[in-house]
Amino acid sequence: MNNNLKTIKKLVNAVDFRGKSLLSINDLSNDQIYNLFELALMLEPWNRSRVNLLDDKVMSTLFFQPSTRTRMSFETAMHRLGGLVISEANPLVTSSAAKEESLGDSLKVISKYANIIVMRHFDDISAREAVKFSESPIINGGFGHWEHPTQALLDLYTIWRTYGKVEGLKVCIASPDLVEARTGHSMAYGLARLGAKVSLASLKDKCIPREVVSKIEDLGEKVDEKYDFSQKSFNEFISGMDMVYLPGCSAPKGPEADKFKKIMDDYYVSFDTLNKIKLEEGRTISVTHTLPRRAGEMDLRIDDSEHQLYFEAIAYSVSLRMALITSILYE
Ligand code: CP
Repeated sequence: MNNNLKTIKKLVNAVDFRGKSLLSINDLSNDQIYNLFELALMLEPWNRSRVNLLDDKVMSTLFFQPSTRTRMSFETAMHRLGGLVISEANPLVTSSAAKEESLGDSLKVISKYANIIVMRHFDDISAREAVKFSESPIINGGFGHWEHPTQALLDLYTIWRTYGKVEGLKVCIASPDLVEARTGHSMAYGLARLGAKVSLASLKDKCIPREVVSKIEDLGEKVDEKYDFSQKSFNEFISGMDMVYLPGCSAPKGPEADKFKKIMDDYYVSFDTLNKIKLEEGRTISVTHTLPRRAGEMDLRIDDSEHQLYFEAIAYSVSLRMALITSILYE
C-alpha cells in the first residue's frame, strides 16, 4: 500500500486541484483532466472495496433536483474513500430551504459541517452566485441548463478507457434540444478541447447556446453543427461516427407531447444502422447515453451489444468521482 499511496499522492499533486471547486469542465486544464484520468485508473481496484484516503472528511450532497446516478455515485465514491456523507435529496421539503433560507446561507452553514459539497440545482444563475458563500469546495452535480461537468468527465474517461484516446475520434452529440442539455454543453467543451472531431445534431431552433460555441472557438477549437434531421438523414449521419453521444432531453407534456414524440423519432438510434456498418465496414459505432433515457430514444437491442457504453460508464463513474474528490481533499 505504501507504494500505492506514493503514486496516489504524486497523481494528486499532478492534478493540482486541492481545495478548488469544480463548477465548469473548463475549470480544469487538459493536463489536469488527463492526470485525473490516471488517478481514476489508479483507484479503480477500490471502486468495489475501500481505500481509506479521506477517513477524516465529510461530504454533503445537496440535490434540489432528482438524481439517481450523480448523487449515488458521489456518495458511493466517498464511502469507498473511507469518508462520511451527509445527504439532502429533497432540500426544498426537508431542509430549511423550505423555510425560505437563502441558498447562500444554506451553503455557508453546510460548509461548516462538510469538507466538500456536491450540489445539483435547477437555477444555474442562483447556484453560481450562492457558491461564493461556501467555505468548502463545491462540485457542480448539474446546474440548471448550464453544465454538468462530472457527467462529461466520466463519459470522457469511459472513452479514454475504451479507445485509449479521445483525440481524433468522430463523436456526435445528438438531441432534438441542445439548449437545455447541460451535459451536452460540458461534453462539447471536453471533447473539443481533447481533440475529438465534434458534431452537434439538433433542431435548428433548439441548437446549443451560442455561448458554448463561442467559448469553444475562443479556446481555438471547433464544432460542426447539423440541424433538422429526418430518420433517414439521421441514420446516414451517425453511420460516419465513431461514437454517438446522447445527452437526453426533456420532453414537453400536454398538447406539444405528440409533436415532440414525432421529432424524437427522427433522432432515434437504431441497432440496424449500427449493425449494418459493422457488417459492411467492420467498424463498431459506440453509443453512450447520460441516462436516464426515455422510451423511444434508442433501440434497446443496443443494450446487449458491443455498441453499448452507457452501462460501462456507470462502473467508471465511481472511480472518476473518487479521483475528483481525492484530488480536491487529499492532504
Ligand atoms: N446522468 C445523470 O445525471 O443522472 P441522474 O439524473 O440520475 O443523476
